[in-house]
Amino acid sequence: MTSAPKYKGTAKPPAKSEEKLWGGRFARPPDEAFYEFQRSFRFDRRLLPYELAVDRAWACALEGAGILSATEVRQIHAALDQIAERAAADPAWLDASAAEDVHHFVELALVERLGPLGYKLHTGRSRNELVATDFRLFIKDAAAAMRGGVAALVGALADQAERHLGVPMPGMTHLQHGQPILFSHFLLAHAEAFLRDADRLGVAIASADACPMGSGALAGCAFPVDRAAIARELGFARPTANSLDAVSDRDFALDYLFALAGLATHLSRLAEDFVLFASQEFGFLVLPDEFSTGSSLMPQKKNPDAWELTRGKTGRTTSALFALLTTLKGLPSGYQRDLQEDKEPVFAAHEQALALVQVVAGAVAATHLNEERLRAAASDPALLATEAAHYLVRRGVPFRQAHEIVGKVIREAERSGQSWADLPPAKLKAFSPLFAEDLRDALTLESALASCAVPGGTAPEAVRAALAECRARLGAVAKASGPANATRGKGAAR
Ligand code: ARG
Repeated sequence: MTSAPKYKGTAKPPAKSEEKLWGGRFARPPDEAFYEFQRSFRFDRRLLPYELAVDRAWACALEGAGILSATEVRQIHAALDQIAERAAADPAWLDASAAEDVHHFVELALVERLGPLGYKLHTGRSRNELVATDFRLFIKDAAAAMRGGVAALVGALADQAERHLGVPMPGMTHLQHGQPILFSHFLLAHAEAFLRDADRLGVAIASADACPMGSGALAGCAFPVDRAAIARELGFARPTANSLDAVSDRDFALDYLFALAGLATHLSRLAEDFVLFASQEFGFLVLPDEFSTGSSLMPQKKNPDAWELTRGKTGRTTSALFALLTTLKGLPSGYQRDLQEDKEPVFAAHEQALALVQVVAGAVAATHLNEERLRAAASDPALLATEAAHYLVRRGVPFRQAHEIVGKVIREAERSGQSWADLPPAKLKAFSPLFAEDLRDALTLESALASCAVPGGTAPEAVRAALAECRARLGAVAKASGPANATRGKGAAR
């Protein structure tokens, strides 16, 4: 019989009490497996640039509160710079650390450089507020980077829409041909959804844009630190309003995951459309070699893997939102260690979504249209049935009756095995005397497209205006997508 596999830690708990953050009241060291189990440094090391920025600001705040001298602040700042440099140059240094989390890591490194002064930085503060602050800074950068990626994707859709302005396609509901639209109108429909995602990313940035520092473990800070100045220094719009809320709140992470779940869902719909349209049955799109793969057995195959994986990866992004909601559900007020589970789903969903928008923007840009197939499919006279009803409406027939009349014409055409457009004028007149000689000229693909000329419609002029509007909004999104933080954490979320 084999024994149960042991959960093996890679890091031994620190032996010396001064290397621990909280050893004083404990008589015995932590169990090794438990120590490893509760460590978060493996993944929260990603927050190091933010942690260092917060440490700098906190040192200044402690000077203002009379705890540190100007010289001590200079020493601490210099040591923090050294830590940043070594961490960037020597990742093995991080790998080898037995630190519990990123906060512990920096404290150990500070003490190594500064001795007892290193411990002074933790005056009046708690890891509970530190982790909330670091994570908010991460989310602000992450969401801004994501918005840049979404803007590039919308740009790719707009470019294709502009390049193919005028190409028609059958517009569908229930996946059944309905009315003709412009292919550009279809592309800009997707662009609209992604512009909403960009807005939602902005909401996530705004909800992360408050600084918890000064909240302490839960009650606030017992030293007179200038919370507004700390917030400003870190690039936050404001300090958080309630210390107990500040250490428990993860709504900003939920907002980011919600934005990503929406984005992934929209990417999945685009993917499904492109998979369908590239199938032999539709033949509207030609799969680009650069974003497709072949079959190991069937030599002729070209598969839409970029789109299928995009569709497939949606589940992971959505599940990150569920994971965090589930973690948060039922927690009491204040910081609970459960909250440490917030970071991994966010990091994973962020990575996924960033890769998705990049690949999808590339695949959109590289896709070719089969204009002939699109035009042929859009030219089916059945797609003009609605316009035929409108023809009668414009001659005074109530729409319900017009609908009924055209329905009967279609039925008759189906019965006689021809297109309704080929029915002789005399036969049509039997259904309504208002069907005149000009009918065939009045009902064309072009006239049907042109008739939907309201703003937001598919008439070429309306689509041209929508394209210009899309580009204008895109400019605003791109402008807002620079790094959100005025911290040294820049780039950590990319
Ligand atoms: N690693 C912890 C987290 O990510 C940091 C805060 C720990 N606080 C505490 N009281 N144990 O949530």
